[in-house]
Amino acid sequence: MINLGRGWPDPSLLPSLQSLLNLSQSEVQHQQEQALQYGVDPGNLDMLQAVIQLRQQCASTEISADCEEGGPDTQGQETANTSTPKITTENIIITNGSSQGLDMVCLRFSRPGDIILVEPLSYCYIAATLEQHGLIPLKVPSTSEQCRTSCLEESRGNLMDLDALEDALETRRQVNGLMPKLLYLCPICHNPTATTMEEEEAKRLIAIARKYKFKLISDEVYMFLAFNCEAVPKSLVDYEMELVEAETPIDEGDDASSFVVLALNSFSKILGPGMRLGWIESCSNNIKVLQESGAIVSGGGLNPLGCSLVGAYLRSGQQETLIETLNTSYRTRCKVMMDALELDLGALPVTVEEIFQPIVQHPCYVRVTGGFFLWLRFPNHWNLDTEKLLSVCLEKQNTKEENEDDESVSFFAGHQFSLGIPLVGDKSNGEEAATTELFVPEVANHSIRICFAYLPEEDITKGISYLAKTAYDMVYSSK
Ligand SMILES: Cc1ncc(COP(=O)(O)O)c(C=O)c1O
Repeated sequence: MINLGRGWPDPSLLPSLQSLLNLSQSEVQHQQEQALQYGVDPGNLDMLQAVIQLRQQCASTEISADCEEGGPDTQGQETANTSTPKITTENIIITNGSSQGLDMVCLRFSRPGDIILVEPLSYCYIAATLEQHGLIPLKVPSTSEQCRTSCLEESRGNLMDLDALEDALETRRQVNGLMPKLLYLCPICHNPTATTMEEEEAKRLIAIARKYKFKLISDEVYMFLAFNCEAVPKSLVDYEMELVEAETPIDEGDDASSFVVLALNSFSKILGPGMRLGWIESCSNNIKVLQESGAIVSGGGLNPLGCSLVGAYLRSGQQETLIETLNTSYRTRCKVMMDALELDLGALPVTVEEIFQPIVQHPCYVRVTGGFFLWLRFPNHWNLDTEKLLSVCLEKQNTKEENEDDESVSFFAGHQFSLGIPLVGDKSNGEEAATTELFVPEVANHSIRICFAYLPEEDITKGISYLAKTAYDMVYSSK
């Protein structure tokens, strides 16, 4: 089976274990005491400094001279990171990766029964964490189909309609409705849509969060893999620092001096998920709140041994070539996948423009900026239920004849990225808590997420061909 669903890095592109072991011999050995002892609360200081250096180095590095390749349209992108991040060691705490960082933020900044806003399409594996913290996920209004042709060209972002969000929040405030405590988003090389939020949109969202006093959990795990951008996109923390520096009026309130943004980052996508290491960036007040998490109070900073190793790796400077290689490979694989889609779907009685409908119609709104995934939306008139398409694609493994190739393929059906029920303005306290029904818009049911990062090029091409053939058979054999 060709697995286009698995959103993992290709292990052959990650650093060799031997190079890490060599570093541990030469660099980490002398840290015997520190590496095997309970760590200081925010994490090993060398590691915090290495993270800052990584962020600063990457901010000043051009990613790609030929960023026109690999996306259906790369115009209108203005993600160049022109200023150096101003974070210090007080703005960082080490985590066991972005997923654990999310858990920590929910633990320290919410209570069961609180509302967390999520994007219209959201990284699916946050659902368990939200549920376990007793949070109620409500979907930020999305830009509607009708609105697309009129106003979206200026409105760039991850399908969140910020005008509608602000209207809904204002109405809720006026009717004393339950207000959100958190909003989770993936603003850089979004999973699943591959889009990156533009500066104006990001700053507007930060201003809304400040006004209505909720935290933004900004999952930035693909920050260093924005292979179709000119530079590494800025963190929402960088934007909030700029806003604070420019003395944007901040609403009065007991946490007015604290940032709304808590940015999750991770080594999973660059050094490998086996590291289980990442970090959170925010203002020093928020970092102190995170340091009071039970696990840190009891056990100190997370994973000191891993920090020593990663710190040594970053100090060695090898990450520069590594990140460049990853971006080159993922850009090529993304292009291979898009070419295969064009070839295989182009041969069907549907144009590739229809498949990439949102991308082609709104090049500056939805574009592939980087990350691991493509989000495909099949034409409405196909009326294709992608969960059924997935079962048929998987079933091929069992129904093939002995001398036939295995043409089974897997992917993620779109509905999995639809979390929560829609946020509406006029709900009274707690009404949503009683609603268990999830809202899956039609567009998600007709869509799929496919990953280009994990598989070699020949498997990507084969996988797309099997997928296109099965989709075609399903749609046209039933007519
Ligand atoms: C958006 C997003 N956040 C978080 C993760 C998991 O990150 P980590 O391994 O650091 O927990 C992934 C992995 O696929 C992801 O796509």
